[in-house]
Amino acid sequence: MLEVEGVSAGYRGSDVVRDVSFHVDEGETVMIIGSNGAGKTTLFRAVCGLLPPSSGEVRFLGEDITGLPAQKVVRRGLAFVPAERHLFPQMTVEENLMLGAYPEKPDPDTLETVLELFPRLGERFRQLAGTMSGGEQQMLAVGRALMSQPRLLVLDEPTTGLAPIVARNAYAALERLREQGLTILVAEQQVPLALAVSDRGYVLENGAIGLAGTSAELASDPRVRSAYLGVV
Ligand SMILES: Nc1ncnc2c1ncn2[C@@H]1O[C@H](COP(=O)(O)OP(=O)(O)O)[C@@H](O)[C@H]1O
Ligand SMILES: [Mg+2]
Repeated sequence: MLEVEGVSAGYRGSDVVRDVSFHVDEGETVMIIGSNGAGKTTLFRAVCGLLPPSSGEVRFLGEDITGLPAQKVVRRGLAFVPAERHLFPQMTVEENLMLGAYPEKPDPDTLETVLELFPRLGERFRQLAGTMSGGEQQMLAVGRALMSQPRLLVLDEPTTGLAPIVARNAYAALERLREQGLTILVAEQQVPLALAVSDRGYVLENGAIGLAGTSAELASDPRVRSAYLGVV
């Protein structure tokens, strides 16, 4: 579904991620593990059209989308949920969700699916997004992305700023989406949570892929265990 080949990207002419290649197949949940500053966000921005790669190619559903602006990438079925969520705080939950479908008309069945996944959003439908808790805002950011009816959902550190129990709930929702057949790409520092719901993963170190494997392989890799799972 997604093929990233030799992508380099960075800021002001200096690359932060270098020659990164990975892929995501239909129906898979794939994680990119990396510590703070490894380049996860930069990589995702380059994949999702928010930052033009300086070299390399991004293919989505067999088509070259390298450098295509984000709003066009979304319309092809690749939705990005940034770590900062970027909700409209002065707009209601409902309005934020509706904007997720823009420029298409919101699909009532999709809205129903989102509200089934996150009943809390239905309970808070008319509440201003900015007054919601961190966990609720995370649900809203994912719900808004789902309103674009994506084929691939890309989440950058979805547990940022969430208490551990709330982070676990966020991953439970991702697990349900995966069971419904959605393809998911997620960047995480909270590796145990991500490992539990993903099929495969890549470790990003200093802007380059250092290790790749199934989640089971990564979970038993001594480097992953000591650096990301806190196992000595
Ligand atoms: N807008 C920016 N301008 C310049 N440098 C940046 C910018 N955003 C990130 N960086 C740098 O790129 C590197 C990787 O950052 P980032 O992609 O955010 O990593 P991660 O998401 O893995 O924490 C860091 O050294 C960071 O300082
Ligand atoms: Mg980041």
